[in-house]
Amino acid sequence: MTRPLRLGVNIDHVATIRNARGGRHPDPVRAARVAAEAGADGITAHLREDRRHISDDDITRLTEEIALPLNLEMAATEEMLAIALRHRPHAACIVPERREERTTEGGLDVVGGHNHLQPVVRELNAAGIRVSLFIEPDPAQLDGAVALGAPVVELHTGAYCEADGADRERQLQRIVTAAAHAERIGLECHAGHGLTYDTVGPVAAIPTIVELNIGHFMVGEAIFVGFAASVAEMRRLMVEARGQA
Ligand code: PXP
Repeated sequence: MTRPLRLGVNIDHVATIRNARGGRHPDPVRAARVAAEAGADGITAHLREDRRHISDDDITRLTEEIALPLNLEMAATEEMLAIALRHRPHAACIVPERREERTTEGGLDVVGGHNHLQPVVRELNAAGIRVSLFIEPDPAQLDGAVALGAPVVELHTGAYCEADGADRERQLQRIVTAAAHAERIGLECHAGHGLTYDTVGPVAAIPTIVELNIGHFMVGEAIFVGFAASVAEMRRLMVEARGQA
């Protein structure tokens, strides 16, 4: 039986546009409400150390005002762990974070970073927050996620989305292989980063991937068609590729 595929809508870049002028518009919480009505299964937001887009107040309002499950993307720092434990989101996705990067470039090294990540994963698990680790589609990293006791991995689709032609196919095969490996070793498998209308289909068709987290493209497309329409179209393409009714 085909497993349902969830869409987590990442609203970070609604906050990027708001912050360009420092006021309250456009409001990411309103975007979350629109996304919910347009078919999102969850809302994803990355509270970065430098607060360049999502703010602490956004996280408070998203947990209090939005009924959909919140997936908090966070670096493995003491500050972010304390925030996650205070808000108790449905899920936390641990991502690497470097101040100078434009976006999350590359996945976590969960093998080399085992000792640093272990207490964070343990405390989130103990608090009942579903932990995912954002990693490259590399079997060694998946094995490292199991060693850490994380129940979920999110495969980084950035290299696949940026590649062309034969290289894109090669990058897709890395994701296919990693998703099959995740199933074998008992990890729930998600994917995301850089997905667009053109690249979402082959990833949505991988049957063991059960959640996609997508943001920047839909927020950009919203300028032309509106946010509800861009979320609904992404959802339609996912359903079509998955072969779901
Ligand atoms: N998943 C993770 C872990 C991310 O860090 C991001 C970007 O914040 C996304 C998914 C969404 O990527 P995009 O905004 O390119 O769709």
